[in-house]
Amino acid sequence: MANLNDLAWWQKTIAYEVYPKSFKDTHGQGTGTIAGITEKLDYLAKLGVGALWITPCYKSPMVDNGYDVADYYAIDPSFGTMAEMDELIARGRERGIRVVMDLVFNHTSNQCPWFVESSSSRTNPKADWYIWRDAKPDGSAPTNWRSIFGGSAWAWCEERGQYYLHTFASEQPDLNWENPDVRQALFDVANFWANKGAGGFRIDAITYIKKPAEFVDGPVDGADGMSAVHAATANTPGILAFLREFKAAVRDGRDIFMVGEANGVAAEELGDWVGEQGVFDMLFEFNHMLIPMHKSEVWCRKVEWTLTDLKRVLAASQRATALNGWYPMFWENHDQPRSTVNFLQCEGALAKKAKALGTVLLTMRGTPFMYQGEELGYGNASWDSIDEFDDLSTRNQYEFALREGLDEVGALAACVRYSRDNARTPMQWDASEYAGFSTAKPWLPVHDDYATCNVAVQEADPDSPLSWYRTLATLRSEHPVLVAGDWTELMADDEQVLAFERTWGNERAVTFANLSDKPAAYDPALVEGLTPIVATTLGTLAPLESVVFV
Ligand code: GLC
Repeated sequence: MANLNDLAWWQKTIAYEVYPKSFKDTHGQGTGTIAGITEKLDYLAKLGVGALWITPCYKSPMVDNGYDVADYYAIDPSFGTMAEMDELIARGRERGIRVVMDLVFNHTSNQCPWFVESSSSRTNPKADWYIWRDAKPDGSAPTNWRSIFGGSAWAWCEERGQYYLHTFASEQPDLNWENPDVRQALFDVANFWANKGAGGFRIDAITYIKKPAEFVDGPVDGADGMSAVHAATANTPGILAFLREFKAAVRDGRDIFMVGEANGVAAEELGDWVGEQGVFDMLFEFNHMLIPMHKSEVWCRKVEWTLTDLKRVLAASQRATALNGWYPMFWENHDQPRSTVNFLQCEGALAKKAKALGTVLLTMRGTPFMYQGEELGYGNASWDSIDEFDDLSTRNQYEFALREGLDEVGALAACVRYSRDNARTPMQWDASEYAGFSTAKPWLPVHDDYATCNVAVQEADPDSPLSWYRTLATLRSEHPVLVAGDWTELMADDEQVLAFERTWGNERAVTFANLSDKPAAYDPALVEGLTPIVATTLGTLAPLESVVFV
C-alpha cells in the first residue's frame, strides 16, 4: 500500500495546462500575456491546481506559436517580460502553484542564433549542431520522409549546399543530439529555468531526438509519394542513453518533475521510460489519443472505434504504471480537438459530456492534467472556411486531404473535426465582448455560445461543469484513496460505462461514467458500503451520468 508521505508533491496535485496566447490578455492586443496568467492564479487555486504547465513563451518568430524557439533565455515581447515571468513564478509559489516550463529540445527556430551560425558554412563551430546531409545524386532530398506538418522533412540551405532535417515545419530545424555540446547547451537551458524556480518541465516531442544510424527511404504511405518521418525516427534505440544523461544533469537532486511528450512509446515500453529505472517521472504517451484518430494521424482518414477500444488502452497504461512509475491522465491539450467531441461519439449536451469526462480525469490513478477550458465544457469551434484557421498543421492536413482525393467540403470537415485550433480559441471568462479575454479582437474567435459558456456564469451555477470540477478537486484532496489508491478496472467489456475501483488499505472508491446517450446499469454490489457523492439511483445511470462512490 502506497504511503501518502512517500508520494511527491506532483503526484498529489492537479496539473493545468495554459496556452498563454489564448488565456488572458492584459495588453489589449488580442493575444494573451504572462501577466494575464498571474491575474488568474486564484482561479486556478480554486480548481486545486498545484502544477501549472505553460506552453512555450520564449522569444520566437511564432511560426508554430512558440514551439519554434529563437532564444530559450528570453520571453517573447508579445507575452511580456522576464520580470513578469519571475513574478508569475513567485506569486504562484505563494499559492502553492508551481510553474512548469515547456522545453522544446528536439528543434529550435531557424532564427535561433545556433542555427543561423550552423547554416552559414560547413566549417563553423556549430556546423554539426543540426542534422545536415548531402542531396541524393539527382539533387533531391536525402530521403523521402514527410515532416509531421506535411511536405518533405528536408529543406535546402543555399550557403551550405546541403539539406537539413526538420521533423516539424521547415522553420523548426532538428538539433543534433549526437553532439555533446548540443546536449550540454540544452541541459544549461533546463538548469537556468530550474534555478529560477520552475517546478518541473514538460519536454516536447522527445521521442524524435535520436536519429537512426542510416538514413534510408521509407515505404510510401500517401498520395504525395512520401513516408512519414515518424516511422523512421520515433523512439530510435539509444534514445534512453541521452535521456539518462538529461535526467542526471537536470532532474537528480531537485524536487521537480519531468513529463515527456512521447508519441511512439507503447504501454509495454513504459517501464524503461518512467519510474525507478526510467528517465522521466511521467510520460504523455499517445495510445488513447490515437483511438479516435486514424493511426497514421492523417485527419481525413476514417476511423471506427468503440468504448472498449479506448478502455483497453487506458487500462494497459494503468497496468504498466501500477507498480513502477506514475501516469499523467489527460483528455485534452493544445494539440487536440475538444474532448467532448473527440472522445464522445454520442448525442447529448456538452455540459453533461464534460462532466462525465471530468469524473474520469479526476479520479483515475495518476496526476490529472486539465487543459484550459476543459472545465467549462467547450465543444469544437465553428469554422466555415480553411482561411479561418491559424494553425500550420491544419492547413497542411487540408492540402493533404485534397491530394488524397477528398473534395473541399470533405477536407474542411476533417479540419473542423481535428484541428488543433479547436483547443486554441480564447478562454471565456465572462459574457462581455470577447468573453473577458481581451479588449481587442482576439487572434482566434471566441465560441458562438460564449455568453452562456464562461467562467462567471458557471461559477454561479452549481450544476455547471466548472462547479463539478471543483467538487471533484475537493474530493480528491479529502480522500487519499483517490490519490494513492490502486486502480482496478470494472465492467471491462461494457460498451457504455467506463468504471473502475480505487483501493487503499481499508478505503475504497468506485467511479462510473456512462459515456453513452442511453441509460446504463451496473451491479449495486460493486458499491456496497459506499456512499455516492451526489444523488443517484443505485444500479442505474442516466445518459452521460457519472458518479463517484466513496
Ligand atoms: C509538440 C507540441 C506541438 C508542436 C510540436 C512541435 O507536439 O505539443 O504543439 O507543434 O511539438 O514542436
